[in-house]
Amino acid sequence: MDMERALVLDTVRVTEQAAIAASRVAGKGDPELVDQAGTEAMRRVLNELDIDGEVVIGEGERDEAPMLFIGERVGQAKPDSWPVDIAVDPVEGTGIAARNVQNAVTVIALSEKGGLFKAPDTYMEKLIVGPTAAGQIDLTWPVAENLRAIAKSLDRALEDLSIVILDRPRHAALIEQVREAGARVKLIGDGDVIAALAAAIRGTGVHGVMGIGGAPEGVLAAAALKCLGGEIQGRFAPRNASERARLEAMGAAVGTVYRTQELAPGEHLVFSATGITNGDLLQGVRFFKNGARTHSITMGYRSRVVRLSDTIHLLDGSRVGIQI
Ligand code: FBP
Repeated sequence: MDMERALVLDTVRVTEQAAIAASRVAGKGDPELVDQAGTEAMRRVLNELDIDGEVVIGEGERDEAPMLFIGERVGQAKPDSWPVDIAVDPVEGTGIAARNVQNAVTVIALSEKGGLFKAPDTYMEKLIVGPTAAGQIDLTWPVAENLRAIAKSLDRALEDLSIVILDRPRHAALIEQVREAGARVKLIGDGDVIAALAAAIRGTGVHGVMGIGGAPEGVLAAAALKCLGGEIQGRFAPRNASERARLEAMGAAVGTVYRTQELAPGEHLVFSATGITNGDLLQGVRFFKNGARTHSITMGYRSRVVRLSDTIHLLDGSRVGIQI
C-alpha cells in the first residue's frame, strides 16, 4: 500500500482519540484543560504511527508548548518509516469546546516533507470557496464582486448565499459589505477550519468563508480544500512588528496573496477532522456505557478519497453492546 493510502487509514485514529479525550472534559469551562487533553491524546496516537514526523504547525514554539510544539519529532521513526511534515490543531475552537457549544473539532494534516507551508502563529485574511467557485474569485477584488462570482458559480441569487465570518469587532465593515451586497452572514464564535470544509461540501448551507483568522488554520484549511477541490486565498495579516519580522525572516511576503497550492503544495496530503462538539458537518463525540462514538472526515489528495466515518470505540474489557 502506498504511503498516502495507509496514512488515510491510520490518521483518523489520531483525530478520533484526540476528540474523545477533549470531549471528556468539554463543557467544564476550561479551554486549557480541553486543549491539554486533546493534545496529549493526539501525540500518543501519532507516536504509534509508522512515520518519521516533524510538527511544522503545532501548539506553539518549543519554549511555549510542552508538546506538539513546532519542530517536535513524532512517530516510530524507524529506518523505513515515512518522513512526513505534520500540521495539527488538537482542539480547533478551544473556547467553544470549553463551553460545549457548536463546531469544535480536532484537526490534522500530513504530507511528504515540504508539503505544508510553515506559517507562524499570526493572522491571515482569507477568502474560501467550494469547487464551483474555485478559480473564479480573487482576494484583491471588492467583496461584492467575489460574492457575485460565488453566486454565479452556484447558479443562485446573491440573497441565497450564506457566508461564514468570525464574529469579531475587526469584521464590522466586512459584515456590512456582505449584507449590503445582498448575501447573508453566518457569524461563528470560533473555528474557521471546519467552516472551510463546509464551504467546499454541498448541502451544508455554507457557500464561502471571509475575514481574518489564524494563519496556521489557513494552512490546515488549504490541505482540506485541496483534497475537496475548493480554494483558499490568504494574505498574512501580522498583528505587530515582531510578527511581521518573523514572517519576513521566513521568506513570507506580507502583501502577497497565497493560494491553495502554495499553502499546501504537497502531492501526498492527508487530512482528518473529528467532531468534538456537534457541528454543521460533523457530530460531536457521544459517550455511552461501553465506549464512545465519533464522526470524522478523512481525505487523501492523491488517492482521491473522502471518507466520512461514524465509528464506535468500545472500552477495553467491555462486553459488546452497541446502540445506534
Ligand atoms: P483556537 O483553536 O486556538 O481556539 O482557535 C480558534 C479560532 O477561532 C480559529 O478557528 C480562528 O482561525 C482563530 O481562532 C481566530 O483567532 P481570534 O480568536 O484571535 O480571532
